[in-house]
This record gives sequence, C-alpha cells and structure tokens, in this order.
Amino acid sequence: MFLEKIANAPSAVTFNDYILLPGHVYVEPDEIDVSTWLTREIKLVCPLLSSPMDTVTESEMAIALARLGGMGVLHRNCSIEEEVEQARIVKRAESFIIRDVVTIKPDQLVGEAVKIMQEKKISGLPVVKGNLLQGIITKRDVYFSSHDKQVNEVMTEKMTTADESVTIEEAKELMRENKIEKLPIIDEKKRLRGLITIKDIYLREKYPQATRDESGRLMVGAAISPFDLERAKNLEKYVDLLVIDVAHFHNENVIQATKKIMENVGSEIIVGNIGTREAALDIATRLEGVAAIRAGVGSGSICSTSEITKAGSPTLYATSVSADAFNEVGANIKIIADGGIRIPGHVALALAVGASTVMMGNIFARCRESPGELVVIGERYYKRYRGMGSSAARAKRMALDRYAQPIKGIAEGVEGMVPYAGEAVEVVSRFIAGLKASMGYAGASSIKDMWLLAKLARLSSLGVQEMKPHSIVLPSTGVEIGEF
Ligand code: XMP
Repeated sequence: MFLEKIANAPSAVTFNDYILLPGHVYVEPDEIDVSTWLTREIKLVCPLLSSPMDTVTESEMAIALARLGGMGVLHRNCSIEEEVEQARIVKRAESFIIRDVVTIKPDQLVGEAVKIMQEKKISGLPVVKGNLLQGIITKRDVYFSSHDKQVNEVMTEKMTTADESVTIEEAKELMRENKIEKLPIIDEKKRLRGLITIKDIYLREKYPQATRDESGRLMVGAAISPFDLERAKNLEKYVDLLVIDVAHFHNENVIQATKKIMENVGSEIIVGNIGTREAALDIATRLEGVAAIRAGVGSGSICSTSEITKAGSPTLYATSVSADAFNEVGANIKIIADGGIRIPGHVALALAVGASTVMMGNIFARCRESPGELVVIGERYYKRYRGMGSSAARAKRMALDRYAQPIKGIAEGVEGMVPYAGEAVEVVSRFIAGLKASMGYAGASSIKDMWLLAKLARLSSLGVQEMKPHSIVLPSTGVEIGEF
C-alpha cells in the first residue's frame, strides 16, 4: 500500500518539462486572436492578469493592465479603506459618464475649490446646490481670482449640458462646438446626474481594447480573505470581481467561509489557489456560482512553500487536472494558471492544458507601474519583489490568514529583486507577440483552438538543455553557454 503511493504517484509536471509540438498552420501570427473569458461575464482582449501582491498590483498597475485589455487584482495586504481607495482610483481613472462626480457648493470659497482640484487631480468642479446644477468652476476661472471669493462669484453659469441619452459622438461634437472640456449631464429638473470629460473620450479612443464595465470605467478585481466579510462588502461596490486569496483553498473552513461570502455579496467570485482534481470537483459541486479558480500551488517565483512543506502542485499540472475535473462535471468555471510563468511559451502551455487566462507576479513586478521600490545597483535597475508569505510582507500583518495556522510564524515566500523592465505596455506587447508566435507554431488561431488542437511533448532533461541556445560564446560575456 505504501509502495503503491510511490509507484502510482502522478507526474506533477511543470512548464519546462514540456514543449508545444508544431501544428498544421492556417493563419499568420497577426491574425491570431488571444481574447478570452476571465469569467462567464467578463471578456478580456488580453489573457494576462497581475497577481494580488503588494509589490505587484495597486491602482497604477490595475489601470495600466485594464487599458491593455487584461486586468489587475488589487492586493489585500492593507486596511479595508486603503484597498477601497485603490479600487476607487481605478474606477475614477476613466469612464464615459462619471457618476462619482466631485462637486462644490456655490457658497464655498475659491480657495477650497482650488484645494479639491489639486487633491483630486481634476481641472473643474460642477457647482451644485442640493443636487441642482448651478454652474461650473474650472482651473481657468480660479486662475486670476482671489481665493477668498465665493465660488458663485467666479463660476461659469451659462453651460452646455446634455441628458443621459447622449451618445459618445454627440458628446464629442457638443464639446468641440462649444470649445469645452466638461459636459455636465442633467435630468429634466436640472439635477446633476454625471459628467463627461474630453479626457475620458480621448482615453476611450486611445485604448479601444481596454477592459471596461458598462459605464465605460476600467475593470478591476480585488483580493479578500475568506474570513473578512466586511472587506468583501466594502469592496463589492467598487470592483468587478472579488478574489478569495489563500495559499491553499481546499480547506473546509475556507470553503465554508467562502459560501458565506457568496451568500452575502453580489460580485463575481474567483477562488484559489488549488492544485488537485479533488479540489476542483469540490468547488464545482459545492460552491455554485464560482466564476473562476486560480490553479497552481507553490510554483511562484517567490514561493518557498514547497521547499518548506514539500507540498504543492505545479501550475501546469494543477491547470490540467482542474480543467479535466470541470469538463467531467460540465462546470463552466474558468481557469487562471497562476505561478511560475516567465515567458510567453509558458502562457501558451497553460492555455493548451485548459487555462483561459494566466496570472503573473514576477513579470509585472518588473514594470514601472508596480508599487515595488525601484533600486539602482551599479548601472542596473531593479524593482523589489516579495512573496505574500515572506517575512517582510507578513510584517504588515494584514494578510496573515493567506497561510494556515500552524505555519503562520514560518515564511512561505522570499523577498528579492527583479530586473526593471519599463512600462507595462512594453512588457505586455512583448508577451502577446511571443504568445501569438507560440500559438502560430501550435497551429491555433484562438484560445479555444489551443484547448482543442495544441499538442504537447515531454522533454528529457537533456532535451531541456538542447532546446535553448547552447555551445556558443556570447559576445556580452565571452563565456560559452550551455556546452552540450
Ligand atoms: P510568479 O511566479 O509570477 O508567481 O512570481 C506569482 C504567484 O505566486 C503566489 N504567491 C506565493 N506563493 N508563497 C507562495 O507559496 C508566497 O509568499 C507567495 N506570494 C504569492 C501567488 O499565487 C501569485 O499569484
């Protein structure tokens, strides 16, 4: 019986064990469509998500990724108020009609208007009494005015406005004709209903592929603890999905707590991480309505979980067993391959075994938009990157319940640095170009094709060596690499 455990152990294979076999190609890489479904409701043009980690995703990364057609998941290693504020920043970044309009009253002082505009980084405020629109005050109005005057003395009263039914084209035309940058939206009683700005229209045109909600705002996800219903309730108003974020989701307490969260909030719910068929089946049969799962335990570049515990499930294996389990019971639960993804080929392999999207920490930590500190050593630039189970992340004590009780005192992650890679747009473009090249080789023109057509082959350890540059001296180092 015990020997059987060894003899019958499945091969928990990882990305570098496999290669995509070249398939029969009918399309060129630029005709390949990498759009995908993150959940049953949310479609992404780009299948990349950033990890909820405190050196990876805050509002800046979430904004950048949503504009590129992916999505960011805000980390939870902060207070509820801080996480809500990050979500609000993303939602305010752009929209067709801004609903959360910052306003001022007619009897407030110009100085106050200036302060609000500076703090909120906006260039004008609708002036409202009750909720009736009285005028608008912009930077131009306050520039030469004394700060002690009242807002109603300097505001512009004669304004161009529109009602809710206005289309983007009509709004653009109205702003162009009247040479204005802000168009208040009012109802028949002149009550302020929203605001359209020229900046938002411009951003819409600049990022046509962005992941947007029905109001034209960028979409964002937020990580929560399964045991923090208060956080879930506070965030659900501002985010498009909640991610129950624990290192090992297949835990009865976690499942029960997730059930409670699902009964009490309306957002789409993603859970994880999981690594086995049994965990996937339990989710499919016991947590009705789960939108997606994160597959992979202990494969992340900053993970020391399996080094310490000898427990884990490599991302490629976890993805394939979860996909088979969901297929078996006919569950439409999407899979996010999470951990250890370093190159576009890893994304392609994950898609080939059933993932719909992938999540990356290490790669996005390298970008300007990540919150990690930029460090210069010699002439090279790096960004700090740390596991959420590392001692430094734990020191903040806000996400300790990501890990199980007995090992709360033991670090399950490491901290270090990753090379600085510039803007997220460059990193994403390179990844998508590489992914399309992989898909092209595999003979797939879409992610669905990857599921159905892509074939994998197992490499021997010598094969792994041979399938990369070898037996050549690189001019940069003068050293022969991978002698073979
Ligand atoms: P990459 O390889 O992209 O992986 O850096 C990011 C993923 O790793 C997980 N994560 C951790 N896993 N200890 C772990 O075992 C940690 O401290 C830790 N922090 C993050 C997480 O799934 C993330 O998306």
